Amino acid sequence: MLVLGIETSCDETAAAVVEDGRRVRADVVASQILVHAPYGGVVPEVASRQHVATIVPVIQRTIAEAGIGFSDLDAVAVTCGPGLVGALLVGVETAKSLAFALGKPLIGVNHLAGHLAAIFLGEDATPPFPHLALLVSGGHTALIRVDEPGKTSLLGATRDDAAGEAFDKVGKLLGLGYPGGVKIDKLAATGDPRAVELPRALPGRDDLDFSFSGLKTAVATRLAKTGVPEGAALADFCASFQSAVVDVLVRKSRRALAREGLGALVVCGGVAANRGLRAALAEAAREDGFGLFIPPPKRCTDNAAMIAAEGSALYLRGARAGLDLSVDPGLPLAPGLPLAPS
Ligand code: KG4
Ligand code: ZN
Repeated sequence: MLVLGIETSCDETAAAVVEDGRRVRADVVASQILVHAPYGGVVPEVASRQHVATIVPVIQRTIAEAGIGFSDLDAVAVTCGPGLVGALLVGVETAKSLAFALGKPLIGVNHLAGHLAAIFLGEDATPPFPHLALLVSGGHTALIRVDEPGKTSLLGATRDDAAGEAFDKVGKLLGLGYPGGVKIDKLAATGDPRAVELPRALPGRDDLDFSFSGLKTAVATRLAKTGVPEGAALADFCASFQSAVVDVLVRKSRRALAREGLGALVVCGGVAANRGLRAALAEAAREDGFGLFIPPPKRCTDNAAMIAAEGSALYLRGARAGLDLSVDPGLPLAPGLPLAPS
């Protein structure tokens, strides 16, 4: 079974071919970071235009790298939400045209379900069901109980900023440009996480919600007084900020595992690429004895292999979209399972 995945929900134009739901035959990501960087963030209109220019060459390259022809595909899977409306439309209309021209089934994929499915790609051991998923991306931060494929319940979510959003906003305050996450991660590696005291928002004992806007405000207030640090002090600041975010994510994940009696944690979304978070969770897993499953960094950030993986699972479950498939910028993870707006 060969499924083509297409992903254009934000600032990555991506396509991938996945065989039998697990084996990645080709995985192409054309990042728009350099295009948006001068604006300090993603400009939706610019993202749509960039997707229009890039999507067909990206798909052609993907098919060539997979060593197949278009007619070998069993289905075309595409992200139909959540995300930027114009950006999503480019991917969905391209997928519809392709499915129509080839006479192949079309599958609409939820971007968040795609992140959750990334862990099933490749040769490594896969998580057992039920498990806990920590979804940490630029638009979402949530703890999700996954009872079986497609059966999820929301345990907690951010009340304000997402973790990735906090990284990006603090990156901007520190003059690191857009996106801040990767840059803070790099600088934090050489800094002292105890150098700067920053608040940890841990509302309620059993609460599994998150809040990162207070931390961002604390950073802004501090920088207004001291100015932006440089050199070793900047690395210390990055390490301290990162550790404040990581601390909360690890503590809440542990709390959720204990409360739900779950023995396995899947971590996904762009922030799951963060080295500080990966190291802290590995230590927690050793101490508490839970199974830890994190995709390689390139499958944590947006990619189309995860869309093809989820598309393959949906295809086997009989899901088919019509050629009237539309996009939903606020698509929930599952009906009745809203996540905080991005
Ligand atoms: O999942 P993703 O690629 O896109 C969304 O669906 O939002 O996540 C992007 C987010 C951005 O906020 C980015 O700064 C953050 O993930 N990110 C990181 C790292 N790599 C990406 N944050 C911290 N450390 C990283 N290494
Ligand atoms: Zn994403």
